[in-house]
Amino acid sequence: MCGIVGYVGAQPAAPILVAGLGRLEYRGYDSAGIAVIGSRGAKVIRRVGRVHDLAAAVPERTSGGIGIGHTRWATHGAPTEANAHPHGSQDGRIQVVHNGIIDNAAILRERLAKDGVVLASDTDSEVLAHLIARSAETSLEGAVLDALAHVTGTYAVAVVDVSTPDRIVVARNGSPLILGVGEREMFVASDAAALVRHTSSVVHLDDGEFATVTATGFRTFTGDRQDTAKTPTTVDLTVEELELAGHEHFMHKEIHEQPASLERMLRGRLDDRFASARLDGLRLDLRELRGFRRVKVLGCGSAYYVGQAGALTIEALARVPADAEPASEFRYRNPVIEPDTLYVAVSQSGETADTLFAVREIQRKGGRVVGLVNVVGSAIARRCDGGIYLHAGPEISVASTKALTHMAVGFALLALALGRVHDLSHADGTRILAGLKALPAQIGEVLADEQSIADAGRRLAHARSLLFIGRVRGYPVAREAAQKFKEITYRHAEAYPSSELKHGPLALVGPELPTVAIVPDDELRERNIAAAHEILARRGELTVITHPGVDLGDLTAHRITVPKNEPELDPILLTIPAQLLAYHAARTLGEDIDRPRNLAKSVTVE
Ligand code: AGP
Repeated sequence: MCGIVGYVGAQPAAPILVAGLGRLEYRGYDSAGIAVIGSRGAKVIRRVGRVHDLAAAVPERTSGGIGIGHTRWATHGAPTEANAHPHGSQDGRIQVVHNGIIDNAAILRERLAKDGVVLASDTDSEVLAHLIARSAETSLEGAVLDALAHVTGTYAVAVVDVSTPDRIVVARNGSPLILGVGEREMFVASDAAALVRHTSSVVHLDDGEFATVTATGFRTFTGDRQDTAKTPTTVDLTVEELELAGHEHFMHKEIHEQPASLERMLRGRLDDRFASARLDGLRLDLRELRGFRRVKVLGCGSAYYVGQAGALTIEALARVPADAEPASEFRYRNPVIEPDTLYVAVSQSGETADTLFAVREIQRKGGRVVGLVNVVGSAIARRCDGGIYLHAGPEISVASTKALTHMAVGFALLALALGRVHDLSHADGTRILAGLKALPAQIGEVLADEQSIADAGRRLAHARSLLFIGRVRGYPVAREAAQKFKEITYRHAEAYPSSELKHGPLALVGPELPTVAIVPDDELRERNIAAAHEILARRGELTVITHPGVDLGDLTAHRITVPKNEPELDPILLTIPAQLLAYHAARTLGEDIDRPRNLAKSVTVE
């Protein structure tokens, strides 16, 4: 969602800004713009549509070594050129880009209008440019501090001033912002992807922190003007990781990366001696781990579905009651926070506003939260009391795949660590470790069967609506399979527990509603086969994702088989064909797979 870039140095800023915005495209946006300060003031160019539309509109000779850029995801006001960022003061002296939401924008707009300011857009962000320009403070830093003191809400902002063309002043409160440190040049960005061609040395700003960025360095400070000493860290990101590497789409690349990325994630974390997992990042000793009587998982969208599967794994291995809840709901219902509950926040981006707010709410009430997060140094990762980094590498496709698989493995590791200090035997711990070690190669086997899964995907692409069913461990798999399908094919897809068929959804089943059934080789196999028979009896078309040994009898179904692992880990493998089904269905339909309409990669507003 919304992306910010900024540059100050000896090179022409415009191409750097446009290229940086291109790297942030995956976050989701509907318009883009840049402001570059040259000898004749600020040159502002904004366009609705893609970054390449903006690039085409930027004159080659746009001069100026300082500027800011933005990709906008419309919240206040339609995606129009007037609403695109940067927003300027009336005289154009101040230019601002902003991510987040200003809650009191309506009051501020009203006040500015009363004072005779002509507002040029419908956005909340524009008020910042006017407030900064009208501040009585003489320095740009002072004016930004002054303006933001009148604002409630969330923001990452970058501001340039034509009258001090050597600096960008930035501030962060609830929306991501980092500084990139170069050789006599500095960068500003929402995430490291925008900087990867220029520098790997970054500074993560904290909420409530400000910075002045010039070509020769940076100064960070708090709202009460106290300096904060920040040391740059190195981001582990390469240009290659952000390229397609021969794949048609990032989603396809990321699905195929899973065997290698999982090997990487598991390295050093499997403890054969104690049949447990080594999770130093949790910052919990064995006594503390033993003390938890309950586990509560919080995440949004697919991260929540994996959390639901993760809670089942924790209950199965640790015999500790565990459940999952959408963080977006949790934060609004004044939940009871228990001191002996381990709260787990799960997020790929580490920037999801709802999850971050849930974490803060728990911590405010004394709860202990650990994070399962992919993006290193992200807001949720930094906010949590400890955690497990997922190490899936950058995920560009809006439809998450490998990060979800890594989350599921993260839950298995956590369940193992909790289990081994609660009720799990050494033998069972060893069994799970063997299952985890087998996973990367087994995922490779599923991927090797891509052609047959692609056939099924192509067939399902033409259904107007689909039903995905699974029972207990298979239900979160069905939910995630339906989610992936609807996100990128725009087909209606609904997931139900197989056990619930008779209680309602069976009324829908007929030749026009294909069903995908998750039928693992486990203690519920016969029940699941019976549910599949109920579908066929109503002339519903059936695709079954199952294990090699499962005898489907006289069921006429398209069969997709995945290797068998341990029951607790099987959902991970059963989900892989669902990723490919959705991918190939969307490809058949010619959809924009990596950038589905209306969706953003990191949902940094509620
Ligand atoms: C997954 O395909 C979705 N794009 C979405 O549901 C996502 O999982 C959710 O928005 C949570 O994102 P996060 O993992 O970055 O917190």
